[in-house]
Amino acid sequence: MSKQVDVVVAGGGGFIGGHLVGDLLAQGLTVRSIDIKPRHEWYQVHPDAENVVDDLSLLERARAGVRDAGQVYMLAADMGGMGFIENNKAACMLSVLTSTHMLRAAHEAGVERYFYSSSACVYAAGKQTDPNVTALREEDAYPAQPEDGYGWEKLFSERMCRHYAEDYGFVTRVARYHNVYGPHGTWTGGREKAPAAVCRKVAQAVLSGDHRIEIWGDGEQSRSFMYIDDCLHGSQMIMRGDSGEPVNLGSSELVTINQLVDMVERIAGVRCERSHRLDAPQGVRGRNSDNTLIREIHGWEPSVALLDGLEKTYAWVYDQVKRSQQ
Ligand code: NAD
Ligand code: GDD
Repeated sequence: MSKQVDVVVAGGGGFIGGHLVGDLLAQGLTVRSIDIKPRHEWYQVHPDAENVVDDLSLLERARAGVRDAGQVYMLAADMGGMGFIENNKAACMLSVLTSTHMLRAAHEAGVERYFYSSSACVYAAGKQTDPNVTALREEDAYPAQPEDGYGWEKLFSERMCRHYAEDYGFVTRVARYHNVYGPHGTWTGGREKAPAAVCRKVAQAVLSGDHRIEIWGDGEQSRSFMYIDDCLHGSQMIMRGDSGEPVNLGSSELVTINQLVDMVERIAGVRCERSHRLDAPQGVRGRNSDNTLIREIHGWEPSVALLDGLEKTYAWVYDQVKRSQQ
């Protein structure tokens, strides 16, 4: 790469972005990390990166962000778990400004490769009504019936990548992430997803001695969860690869939320008394990743066992909970 900055990571103050910046720096690349949050709120700040606080939803700021960049990973979005996306549909859809302006600016700047982080939330709701769900294949995104708000933004923005590739020959890569978890992610505040939320609730139970926890829904809804290491490996592999088609990047280890709680309890060495809040946000009833396409194209799929990833995540969340109580 001959540009002044090898890689720009948009959303570098967030969970996946923070890990990605660290990984790229470890490979000896120069990195510009950009996020709208004030720096003290970034999940990780890597001193060796060029760390920029900016609003990439503005076209001029997006242009400044991608100047002299070889590659762009576009991870910036106003998002969270079900508790956030179900109650903030307009805010989620406004990320379309960031997605649009970053793509346009990157193309204008002659960026060599552009990665867009899409989501399993693009998949049609009608195909996710059963906890024993048939794993989702890439073609299941159409006819379009994505998650309201957030899913529509992702589907529109990934399609815009396709048309930039078709109309202008711009090299775009799109991964559909399935629920990603790990240390240094959102674990409290309302945007956290199920793995971090469950780790926090169990850690709070352990630390307080009050072993009652609340679970959203009956707990029989199912998901697969991808550990951050697999996400980093897969994202960079897809960026380097030859295919511009959206591809699933997710684990195929399907569990119910009750099984997820069982695992965290096992790791923590505690049994909790669960109450099920049936009016809480639940999203689709079942969701899993069909990994046929990623295996075909790349000969690889995410492989970190949920129990192994949760062990590391629980240890980190436990420390955060403990620290927050001191
Ligand atoms: P995150 O919320 O931790 O990180 C996103 C970052 O983008 C945040 O730090 C936020 O401040 C920043 N951002 C938002 N608007 C911005 C703007 N206008 N300008 C600059 N920065 C802005 O989320 P994450 O888990 O790291 O997810 C990264 C990407 O992957 C997102 O696009 C998300 O939609 C997608 N994704 C994540 C998951 C998951 O399970 N984590 C699943 C599917 C898709
Ligand atoms: N967040 C959360 N917190 N979810 C809980 C909790 C809790 O305390 N207890 C049970 N759940 C249940 C939710 O009701 C939902 O049915 C399931 O756990 C999974 O919730 P999340 O992890 O919040 O989200 P998701 O899997 O429905 O969607 C997430 O993954 C997508 C990609 O696969 C979201 O983060 C999306 O933004 C993301 O794109």
